Amino acid sequence: MTEVPEHLLKRSQDRRAALGLGGGGDGGGGGDAAPAAAAPADEPAPGSAVAPAAPSAAAKPAAATPAEVAPPEPPPPYVQAALTRKKIPFWAMPVLAFLPVWAIIYVGGLSPADTGEAGPLDQGAEIYAAQCASCHGGGGGGGVGRAFTDGELLATFPDISEMLEFVWVGSNGIGPAGTPYGDPDRAGGAHTTLSYNGNPMPAFQDVLTPEELLNVVRYEREVLGGEEVPAEEIGDADQRFWPDGAPIVDDAGQLVTPEGEALFDEEGFLTIEPNYG
Ligand code: HEC
Repeated sequence: MTEVPEHLLKRSQDRRAALGLGGGGDGGGGGDAAPAAAAPADEPAPGSAVAPAAPSAAAKPAAATPAEVAPPEPPPPYVQAALTRKKIPFWAMPVLAFLPVWAIIYVGGLSPADTGEAGPLDQGAEIYAAQCASCHGGGGGGGVGRAFTDGELLATFPDISEMLEFVWVGSNGIGPAGTPYGDPDRAGGAHTTLSYNGNPMPAFQDVLTPEELLNVVRYEREVLGGEEVPAEEIGDADQRFWPDGAPIVDDAGQLVTPEGEALFDEEGFLTIEPNYG
């Protein structure tokens, strides 16, 4: 307050008096600040009140001409399209909000199928489709190779061990054309090599691991051939055991006899006699 020069205060008071406002300039120290501060604010008011008047008066004649042209101009097509197009339907937001949830459920739905494939018979099915189905048919009904259905396969190989050997070494590994394989007492006579249509069954010892061999052989027997395996020969993880309960595959993934010895010798032939009862 002390900084406000005396002549300005005077001027303010005069102005207030002219405008008919009470100008108690001599009031309390605190009360003075407001009127004093208000005074400069008042000051430009008369000036600014004049200022707009002049431009608006000047602008009027100039604005008159363009103002007539502007209103009839229609909005551009893209604005019209934006105004008239269909809005997003009200139910879209819940649907969009649910999408991530759906994605998680969808992805989750895929994983059980993946874990299922880890089972021995699922692996056997995959190998069968890739390595055997082209000759033996997708359902094992036969083709270039013999049929496994209607008891045919189980009649040839009532014991799994000789079937493992046959697939491992192939027709030519078993012996020259006419060499009997499988159950010698098979109804209709034992099958002999190259007797089906003259074609050999290929060897798979360089194609499959021993465990893969067991799994595809199991798939042919248990799924395509309809073998009924006693419960005590199937493990908790769906692995297969010998009739006496010993594992067919050891921890190293090798095929073993009920006594735990290697099931095949170095050439891939059985080290045990097949059991034809
Ligand atoms: C290139 C064609 C072909 C492929 C691939 C093939 N096989 Fe064979 N399979 C044959 C033929 C041909 C025979 C008959 C062999 C003979 O007469 O000596 C046969 C016979 C068999 C037999 C004997 C059936 C019986 O009752 O005498 C079994 C078991 C067998 N195949 C299993 C398999 C498995 C397991 C696979 C896949 C890992 C497979 N085959 C892939 C052509 C094939």
